[in-house]
Amino acid sequence: KKDGFEHFMMKEINEQPKGVHETLFRRLKEDKVYIDGIKITKKDLERINKIYIVACGTAYHAGLVAKRAIENFAKIPVYVDVASEFRYSDPFVDKNTLFIAVSQSGETLDTLAALREAKRKGARVLSVVNVVGSSVARESDDVFYTWAGPEIAVASTKAFTTQLIALYLIALHMGITNEKLTEKRYFEIIKELKVLPEKIEKILKNTKQIQELADNNFNNNSIFFMGRGIDVDISMEASLKLKEISYINSFAIPAGELKHGTIALVEKGTLVIAISTQKRLTEKMISNIKEVKARGAKVIVVTLESNKDVVKVADDVIYIPETLDILTPVLSIIPMQIFAYYVSIARGNDVDKPRNLAKSVTVE
Ligand code: M6R
Repeated sequence: KKDGFEHFMMKEINEQPKGVHETLFRRLKEDKVYIDGIKITKKDLERINKIYIVACGTAYHAGLVAKRAIENFAKIPVYVDVASEFRYSDPFVDKNTLFIAVSQSGETLDTLAALREAKRKGARVLSVVNVVGSSVARESDDVFYTWAGPEIAVASTKAFTTQLIALYLIALHMGITNEKLTEKRYFEIIKELKVLPEKIEKILKNTKQIQELADNNFNNNSIFFMGRGIDVDISMEASLKLKEISYINSFAIPAGELKHGTIALVEKGTLVIAISTQKRLTEKMISNIKEVKARGAKVIVVTLESNKDVVKVADDVIYIPETLDILTPVLSIIPMQIFAYYVSIARGNDVDKPRNLAKSVTVE
């Protein structure tokens, strides 16, 4: 059942090209987004004055990326919240709000409760769910299914990348429908989305270097991640993945926040993973990396193959294939999943069933 892989997590990491392909191509028709059955018309978009995306854990991180895509393509303000906060915060939700729930299992109690609260306040509910017929799916007005297939490992991997694809498609559909996105850019993004499965394959063929980095660093008792822009979202997801299966103390920060506190932690040998995929922010990332290096940190940089600048200040570099800035999360998270996996193995942990965690959290 693990298809020759030692753990479900590695099997599922390797299933991402397929999951991404399925989630994408089932919703494309003649190179246009085809979300048959999901009601987001031009009239609906005229009425919707804000969007709430609510989820937990990894699905919440997909929501953070989605906010950037929707605001960029469709120019509608988006708020992202973790479900356990949303449900107790008396949020500004009314009939002009679109509520998007994101959940792999569709059974996460907090997400379900948040959805009920949003409905009670009159919002339209769209959900992005992996498990067909799950509670979140049944209680939503519209459902966009991800096609990841069953996810068994507690650490979510293929659910995340397929959620990203689903949310990009929703964002594209909104942008082209309300005419805030030009046709040229719309087709350019779709063209790039279509080649992402091959690019993920490419990363998966070269895991040896990542395994070596994991073997050299698994003994650290603290690892932090930093990035700017969309790389902050991926830093958070990378950190969650690492902590939940390696039990290493880890967190993520926007790199610009270093000087506002975190830099006090940096000493000789501190491991920092810097995600730097956004061209317009490279210079800023370089200065942040220099700041931590000057205090003795060791820095692993995740960047695009074409980036010749940031690599000069790195101790080690993990490259990902070129893609559009807005789409890099689908690629940059893959080496981080693999890194977390090998660190967990090196520490002798139960990768698929980390201590204290359950696959789906159906209690508060
Ligand atoms: O099934 P859901 O997507 O609603 O689950 C949400 C979180 O519990 C889940 O993503 C959790 O954070 C994972 N263990 C992360 O790898």
